[in-house]
Amino acid sequence: MGQIQLKTALPGPNSRALQVRRAAAVSSALGQANPVAIKRAKGSMLEDVDGNLLIDLAGGIGVLAVGHGPESVKAALHKQVDEYLHICSIVANYEPYVELCEKLNSLTPGDFAKKTLLSNGGAEAVENAVKFARRFTGRAGIIVFEGAYHGRSNLTMAMTSKYSLFKKGFGPFAPEVYRLPLPNLYRTPKGMSQADYLEWSCWNLENALVAHIDGSALAAIVIEPIIGEGGFVPVPKKFLEKIREVCDKTGAVMIADEIQSGSGRTGKMYAIEHTGVVPDMVISAKSLGAGLPISAVTGRAEILDSPHIGGAGSTYGGNPLACVAALEAIKILTSIDAQEGAARIERIVREIFEPMQLEIPILGDVRGVGGMMCLEFVHDQASKEPWMEIVPQIVKGCLEGGVILLRAGLYTNCIRFLPEVTIEEATLREALEVVAGAIRQVNKANQVAVAAD
Ligand SMILES: Cc1ncc(COP(=O)(O)O)c(C=O)c1O
Repeated sequence: MGQIQLKTALPGPNSRALQVRRAAAVSSALGQANPVAIKRAKGSMLEDVDGNLLIDLAGGIGVLAVGHGPESVKAALHKQVDEYLHICSIVANYEPYVELCEKLNSLTPGDFAKKTLLSNGGAEAVENAVKFARRFTGRAGIIVFEGAYHGRSNLTMAMTSKYSLFKKGFGPFAPEVYRLPLPNLYRTPKGMSQADYLEWSCWNLENALVAHIDGSALAAIVIEPIIGEGGFVPVPKKFLEKIREVCDKTGAVMIADEIQSGSGRTGKMYAIEHTGVVPDMVISAKSLGAGLPISAVTGRAEILDSPHIGGAGSTYGGNPLACVAALEAIKILTSIDAQEGAARIERIVREIFEPMQLEIPILGDVRGVGGMMCLEFVHDQASKEPWMEIVPQIVKGCLEGGVILLRAGLYTNCIRFLPEVTIEEATLREALEVVAGAIRQVNKANQVAVAAD
């Protein structure tokens, strides 16, 4: 018997009742991918308020690489609850904060002296990284890329791509942010080889120092080594090397935003390690805390030490509960099991969906690295025209079959898989069969609709 157990149609009556309360009480600006309410969660499984058992491929938007509630994390939390809940690192010192910084200094790429600052969430950490880079260089300019997602605070909205979903009506945005095209090889322009496209992208980055911002005004280049919200686009090694080269040439700081791609998600602690490129700063969040809110900026000691004393900090940043959760999560995330698990996820996703591309013309691309995989949907594989409208139908079909997942993509035409990295093979296969079934069904309905036109 499989893991999924459905007692009601989804969403069930209790989920629907809570949806009514949510609609009345919660800002409608808060989007929601799956209209079910969760009562309990363990590992890769969710139990909803109607007693249905569902497989979770969303992991709280990539927060639960360790799965829901690992015993070691819960034990550390229980112990910490009995000791103290909050001190504030500005008020006094406490060991879990220091220990987590030491750990991140040793785990992030780069054989140089490092320091870390902890904070609460991803956007806050990105803001901190930019502050450090600006203070260190004495410059203001930041280069970011198309498809990037760096958060929803005012500065990070300016750095985030995809206007209609994340930015519409919220401006004006922070200045001194320059956006360049990113080589997404699936979308190589017609008539160009991938190699030429990559070559042109590297040239364009260099040219930005003439066209957009002088090197002497550039504080940092911020890159997600695997674009996350923008559709799990692995940034080619050559382009990351070019960023490194431009930063070396100009004295700008190379910042890897590993909020979604890091913390063991792809089979290495940080995705950029797959390329050998070493950034000056790395930003961690999401899976670092196993579900507790924590984020970190780790980088060259001289950059992290460049502001005046008191120039950084926050009330809750590096909360003791989140620190002990992160310390336990790191033990899991750096284990061989986690590394092998991430590789297994990629292998199985490719094994199931790559052959499906022959049969399903709307399945444009299967891509990603390790436990960060995505499917991109198009009107047809030749035109690659993004098909955004089809994706909610697939997500709905998956939910009805007992699988929770999320959309992604600059054109909102992808579905992404962010499971527990050590998800059991049988559980993953069961979930992906539900996804495959939902895709087949939507594809068939579309073929019938086309034939009827
Ligand atoms: C790459 C990346 N950067 C920044 C953020 C923002 O993180 P948060 O939502 O914790 O502010 C996210 C969130 O999805 C992200 O994926």
